Amino acid sequence: MMNMTLRQLTLFQAVAQHLSFTRAAIELSLTQPAVSIQIKQLEGHIGMPLFEQIGKRIFLTDAGHKLYATCEDIFERLNSLETSLNELQGSIKGQLKIAVVTTATYFVPRLFQAFSRIYPEVNLRLQVDNRVKILERLTNNKDDLVIMGQAPEHLNVTAHSFLNNPLVVLASSQHQLTGQSKIPLTRLLQENILMREVGSGTRLAIEKNFANNHLEMRTKIELGSTEAIKQGILANMGVSILSKHAVSLELATKKISILDVETFPLQRTWYVTHLTEKELSLVARTFLEFLLTNAQKVVEQDIF
Ligand code: PGA
Repeated sequence: MMNMTLRQLTLFQAVAQHLSFTRAAIELSLTQPAVSIQIKQLEGHIGMPLFEQIGKRIFLTDAGHKLYATCEDIFERLNSLETSLNELQGSIKGQLKIAVVTTATYFVPRLFQAFSRIYPEVNLRLQVDNRVKILERLTNNKDDLVIMGQAPEHLNVTAHSFLNNPLVVLASSQHQLTGQSKIPLTRLLQENILMREVGSGTRLAIEKNFANNHLEMRTKIELGSTEAIKQGILANMGVSILSKHAVSLELATKKISILDVETFPLQRTWYVTHLTEKELSLVARTFLEFLLTNAQKVVEQDIF
């Protein structure tokens, strides 16, 4: 077992991620037999099969699952070693792992692009999911930094607000309410309100706003992503409430309009967070500093 090599573990990890020898070989620019031979040798060191084949598909065996978890640990540690060695040299390079809630995908790549003009040797690994899933990642300390619309109260986190996040009511430019002013909140309830899935931070903020105004909102149409909601608005299926950042293009081309509804826009803020006890890498600290100083400017210039 002690004779297994890092190279073999890299190959094993690729096969396990794709559950395919062919796709792993393509990813690593190798031939499929070369990958198979190395995995066979690795199985020899372990003394047990790592994959089992059922029909045309392959699956990890129990031993495979255990080795996969170990690989994740080893490569994670090697990555942080690389980052710490870079830090010792005082250079800002290496990997930056950021997790963001879905809505933030509309501006985070832009911010990273502006950042990488100054620090071209930093690589980004972005994880995207809804609020509930991203909170799970934050709790388990999976990323360098986490970007979300509301900092969690039950966790010991440090949260810096770095960007405005107006939530606006949106309708197709053809919608009958478009152009009307001071629309009462109760009037909005007569419309089909297209809502994100349970677990979405946007949905949470909207429900809170209606509850604060002593109104009950019944979700008739639930669409599981911001993109699906945008398509629903464009098809005039109903109205919705989203972050203004998510619809900058549609607003600019006047395909979607902002409705003037009482209590809106809801003024929220984007937060960049991490567990308070976490020791941030130099790369993460530099990106955090960049967000606090430049994010509002970069996003405003680009999309508003
Ligand atoms: P969501 O989060 O993408 O899960 O809706 C957005 C937010 O928290 O503002």
